Amino acid sequence: MSDSYSVRPLITAQQIEERIDVLADQINDHFEGTEKLVVVGLLRGSFVFIADLVRRLDLPVEVDFIEASSYGNETESSREVRILKDLRSPIEGRDVLVVEDIVDTGHTLKHVLRLLATHKPNRLEVCALLSKPSRREVEIRARWTGFEIPDEFVVGYGIDYAQRNRNLPYIGAVEFGGD
Ligand code: IMP
Ligand code: MG
Repeated sequence: MSDSYSVRPLITAQQIEERIDVLADQINDHFEGTEKLVVVGLLRGSFVFIADLVRRLDLPVEVDFIEASSYGNETESSREVRILKDLRSPIEGRDVLVVEDIVDTGHTLKHVLRLLATHKPNRLEVCALLSKPSRREVEIRARWTGFEIPDEFVVGYGIDYAQRNRNLPYIGAVEFGGD
């Protein structure tokens, strides 16, 4: 993989903000009256998204994280998903919202959802910021998706390429061999 690349803006910070407003409204409506919603972020890519999303939730919220390995430093998905950091909160009988940065092949989320389901949550839903439908290998039910994007490698707003560019306030597509 080339070390030299440029980032072409794809989704602006304002577009992200407006979309999160809409998603948060829908999530607030969906979970209205919940005793507690455990929001489970998938590290590390979801950390910016989850921070913006939970601040718009008008519900009793608890925040927890899971880390699952997927890409390493490559852009090819490994089908083998390992849990590197498990949940701290008990979720049995709880409403759970899994927050993911990107659903690509779907393997990561499928694995995580199967694991969480064994803890017998009351409701288990997914909110993904981005989805690449053309890349899907296993079916995933994400009740909420921010943006559907084409098959491009993206960075920014928490999402990295080899640990870089997480701090970009917008989402951009990586152009290899650029500048
Ligand atoms: P999946 O298991 O193929 O669905 O992979 C999902 C994970 O791969 C996401 O949580 C991301 O961490 C990573 N990923 C997928 N596409 C991209 C991308 O375009 N940029 C950066 N990371 C990505
Ligand atoms: Mg991820």
